[in-house]
Amino acid sequence: MTQQSIKRGGFSSSFGVLAATLGSAVGLGNIWKFPYLTGANGGAGFLLVYLLATLVIGLPVMIAEITMGRAAKANPITALQKLAVSKMPWWLIGVAGMAAAFLILSFYSEVVAWVFAYVFKAIGGSILSSDRQVTQAAFTSLIGDPLQSLLWQWSVLVFIGGILLMGVTKGIEGIAKKLMPILFLLLLMLCAVSLSLDKAADGLAFLFRPDFSKITAGVILTAMGLAFFKLSLGMGTMMTYGSYFRDDQNIPQTTLRVMAADLCVSMLAGIAIFPAVFTFGFAPAAGPALVFITIPAVFSQIPGGHLLMVAFFVLAAVAATGAMLSLMEVPVVILHERLGMSRAKATLLTIAGLMLLGSTCALTNNVLADFKLFGMNMFDLFDFVSSNVLLPLGGISLALFVGWTWGADKFTQALSNHGALGNQTTARVVFFLLRYVSPLLILLVMLKGLNLL
Ligand code: PHE
Repeated sequence: MTQQSIKRGGFSSSFGVLAATLGSAVGLGNIWKFPYLTGANGGAGFLLVYLLATLVIGLPVMIAEITMGRAAKANPITALQKLAVSKMPWWLIGVAGMAAAFLILSFYSEVVAWVFAYVFKAIGGSILSSDRQVTQAAFTSLIGDPLQSLLWQWSVLVFIGGILLMGVTKGIEGIAKKLMPILFLLLLMLCAVSLSLDKAADGLAFLFRPDFSKITAGVILTAMGLAFFKLSLGMGTMMTYGSYFRDDQNIPQTTLRVMAADLCVSMLAGIAIFPAVFTFGFAPAAGPALVFITIPAVFSQIPGGHLLMVAFFVLAAVAATGAMLSLMEVPVVILHERLGMSRAKATLLTIAGLMLLGSTCALTNNVLADFKLFGMNMFDLFDFVSSNVLLPLGGISLALFVGWTWGADKFTQALSNHGALGNQTTARVVFFLLRYVSPLLILLVMLKGLNLL
């Protein structure tokens, strides 16, 4: 199969584009990572930096990635080759993106595994309790068991691989489109319950009243890393999805909507969780366990909580599935289009690689508990290196590529749908940010955060 002969799919409707892009952005980043990082990094101050990073850095980089993808209509490596005018090896950004995808998928699949396991634990009902010992013990026993951790992770990988193999990406999008509003509703309901709890005000103060003394260079780096992770940036996912965008799609508008909706889901998760954290005496800095121990406690407070808790974890699993599919799409489409492998073969190879690499994350809390590199266990290391190093580096490189190689004219042409949208001013502002502001800002935050400056 030559590269030219490969038929490329695409999103069919404008709403489909929005749903698919949102499906990639919304995931465990909102429900799991955002609350636990906000809790561990002091609350409102972190939230504020995260919002700033999303607006000033995330938004322009997201627009850049999608615009490049749509202009090139190819996987990230080929896209960079097509758009580059010089002989500089810009395509290496695509290779780095693929590496980042593997690292992220390795720990992400483990968290998805916990969510899937929690669907069944929720059905059994044993985790539904306002006693923090009980919910904590349930989580610890799950992650402490190597066999359970591995089996759940591998089942998740086979499940997701199965969906990709059946080629029903569109089907999943269809399901996600219907279920996403239900997840929204459930989160709203959880917020209402949480806000009625005794110490709700303490939780809200923690989330919304900034304490700037907690903001260090490391915290800023983490907030920026979260902004990249949340919007699926810096590793080729948005470029790949951009390549499926319709030519008449309004990219800045779609991007803005995705960003706003994504922020809403994160805020709702925060409002659902922090009042409960303070009321039931959990520690805000509980780390990755936070959601798994607090959500059951909130549900234990309402009639019908058992059923709703099952629904919550099912929907979290659905949201995570959409994000995981978009992560896996990067290596799969690269192997498929670059090496001429069939999609099926590319998917199987990706799954096999992930079973190996990912197992180090599944075994992190048990067999490999004492195995550390740079003072971190494998799970934390993969998370740190991808979010705080690889994604920002990808962001810098892509911003530099657009700002200094692709150039203002081509970028403006592509972003404005060849003038049809009349948004040249927006294009000029975004271009300015990409050329000067984003690369410098990202570099500064990275060097400071990693103690290199
Ligand atoms: N944005 C997804 C989430 O928040 C994670 C993700 C990261 C997906 C990078 C694709 C690429 O869960």
